Amino acid sequence: MIRFENVSFSYGKEPVLRDVSFHVKPGETVVVLGISGSGKSTILKLIAGLVQPDSGRVLINGHEMTTASEDEWSRVRPKIGFVFQGGALFDSMTVGENIGFTLIEHTDKTMDEIEVTVRETLRFLNLSEDLIDILPDSLSGGMQRRVSIGRAVAAVDPMIMLYDEPTTGLDPISTEAITELILKLQSVKGVSSIVVTHQITDAFEVTNHFIVLHDGVMVFDGPGEKLVQVQDERVQSFLAPFMQSVKNIPAVCPEE
Ligand SMILES: Nc1ncnc2c1ncn2[C@@H]1O[C@H](COP(=O)(O)OP(=O)(O)OP(=O)(O)O)[C@@H](O)[C@H]1O
Ligand SMILES: [Mg+2]
Repeated sequence: MIRFENVSFSYGKEPVLRDVSFHVKPGETVVVLGISGSGKSTILKLIAGLVQPDSGRVLINGHEMTTASEDEWSRVRPKIGFVFQGGALFDSMTVGENIGFTLIEHTDKTMDEIEVTVRETLRFLNLSEDLIDILPDSLSGGMQRRVSIGRAVAAVDPMIMLYDEPTTGLDPISTEAITELILKLQSVKGVSSIVVTHQITDAFEVTNHFIVLHDGVMVFDGPGEKLVQVQDERVQSFLAPFMQSVKNIPAVCPEE
């Protein structure tokens, strides 16, 4: 569904990604780990077509998007849901307007049709439909994060979901709700997902396929059991702070 072939990218002079190759199968979830600045968000931006590689290819569903026309992009883009880092909602808009934002702005659906989608989305998010008319400020951080996932889902008929740090800063219960939502989108809608996260212990609940980036270089691509055993210093230095909590992880990995 998603394939990077020797992708290199820089915003300026310094390379941010160097010769990165990996793939995500249809319906699969891959977690991307790595310290701050290692290039995780950039990977998501490349998939969403917000930036273009300097060299190498990005393929989506077998199509090379690197050289795709704006026409081709306009067919693919609506299939990609992007939950941005921080997931900020528009404070001055209601929850309903936030979820329906893209539909209001970019489609010719009527307000009644949009309300139906927004209500369906709230139910999917396990949030009360009564929230539709309130402002996001009065929601907890975890609920706000769910609404921002709803905004990405309602806008598109997703084939691919990209989550940038979806649980950072949330308490364990809210984190669990987000994890369940990611799993539900995978099982109900069959989406392929990439989840960028620092919260490695939760990462093991959404998948067993991990990628570790270090300074723009992919230093690991494989299953959790191998990740915790890997000898590479760059991987170990990332994992070290979590080792206490991940040491039993192979036992809790989802079945292949
Ligand atoms: N728009 C931009 N212009 C210039 N440099 C950028 C831009 N966005 C990111 N960078 C730089 O590219 C590198 C990778 O950034 P990226 O946001 O992909 O990292 P990240 O792994 O997502 O980090 P974090 O965990 O802090 O979110 C960093 O050195 C960053 O400073
Ligand atoms: Mg980032």
